[in-house]
Amino acid sequence: MLGNFTYCNPTKLYFGEDALKGLYQELPKYGQNVLLVYGGGSIKKNGIYDDVMAILKECGKTVVEDSGVMPNPTVEKLYEGCRRAQEGKVDLILAVGGGSVCDYAKAVSVSTHCEEDPWEKYYLRMEDVDNEIIPVGCVLTMVGTGSEMNGGSVITNPTQKLKIGHVFGENVMPRFSILNPVYTFTLPKEQMVAGFFDIMSHILEQYFSGEDDNTSDYVMEGLLRSLIHSSRIAVKNPTDYEARSNIMWIATWALNTFVAKGKSTDWEVHMIGQSIGAYTNATHGMTLSSVSIPYYRFIMPYGLQKFKRFAVNVWDVNPEGKNDEQIAAEGLSAMEAWMREIGLVMNARELGVTEEMLDGIAQGTFLLQGGYKVLSREDVVRIVKESMQ
Ligand code: NZQ
Ligand code: ZN
Repeated sequence: MLGNFTYCNPTKLYFGEDALKGLYQELPKYGQNVLLVYGGGSIKKNGIYDDVMAILKECGKTVVEDSGVMPNPTVEKLYEGCRRAQEGKVDLILAVGGGSVCDYAKAVSVSTHCEEDPWEKYYLRMEDVDNEIIPVGCVLTMVGTGSEMNGGSVITNPTQKLKIGHVFGENVMPRFSILNPVYTFTLPKEQMVAGFFDIMSHILEQYFSGEDDNTSDYVMEGLLRSLIHSSRIAVKNPTDYEARSNIMWIATWALNTFVAKGKSTDWEVHMIGQSIGAYTNATHGMTLSSVSIPYYRFIMPYGLQKFKRFAVNVWDVNPEGKNDEQIAAEGLSAMEAWMREIGLVMNARELGVTEEMLDGIAQGTFLLQGGYKVLSREDVVRIVKESMQ
């Protein structure tokens, strides 16, 4: 049964090879000054920067640049971005990059006119925004997070060893996002597959929760099947437009709030992954892949029927002559084989996790209530340790 909900997603999408032309429609809606936010320079190498700048100039905008947004953006960088946005009196923040750049743009959006410390207000105390918000638009270059169509913004505080996401409301979601699958062709393989697993994890964390019959689970099974199919093609041929465009679209639907409506969700893998990220600064998708199999094997007995359904409907496991445990376990084994096939990190040690970090990682992990088994801190240690075998 679906629970009660309201649904609104205000982000306008421009999808396809000509998507950047959408800027001609969007930019005139905002004032003169644009904060152009980007990362460590990939957009200068692949030409996206030049194309975006040309349109900004054609539309007569004054551009203030804010580059060097790092993967897992830090609170120090956020303070710097706010200063730039204030000095430039910006009317629009244009994020050109992956989830880190889009998340950071949203953080600058809500923090520039905030009179309190934004890290404490939004990320530690999880308060709502009650000050002016600067509108955000995105040009996406890395697929995975869904940040292009949601209110999520994850910021890392390296001193406090905390990586925390705040999910802001509709008013903070990007006003528009430009999705051109061709932009993702230049991603290094490690980032590409990390993004694939981020997508899978987003879907699984919404799928493995609750036991009721609801439409979202069927939608998610379809998204998963399409992801598995297209990922295999993209790994062999990264410039296969059909596969890359499907994956871009799946990523957006996996985390634009739609499939979570009316149902409970888990998110514990993300909580563990984020804490590992705070300690190691590792690639987000790989922090998730390293702990997923140990986590799902651990909780499987508590949600056996759903794991059985996952095995049959997503991985085509033949149930004949097998008991529920065998069917469910075969599903997870198929998932593990796919993870190894596409080249994901399966061992947390490879990300820099050491035994000395385990207690801290468990302390930094938020323990949520929506999964099939509510974890204790000892469970978190056990799961990460298992990933280190
Ligand atoms: O910085 P540059 O030089 O641009 O290089 C980036 C970066 O090194 C590179 N890259 C991006 N597009 C490229 C490219 N390289 C070549 N060609 C391109 N087209 O890829 C690297 C990773 O980029 P990043 O933005 O960090 O990756 P991702 O999109 O995975 O974002 C990760 C961040 O998003 C957060 C994560 O926690 C992490 O901080 N998340 C945000 C979510 C949300 N908003 O809802 C949910 C997610 O679960 C996630 O937590
Ligand atoms: Zn994620």
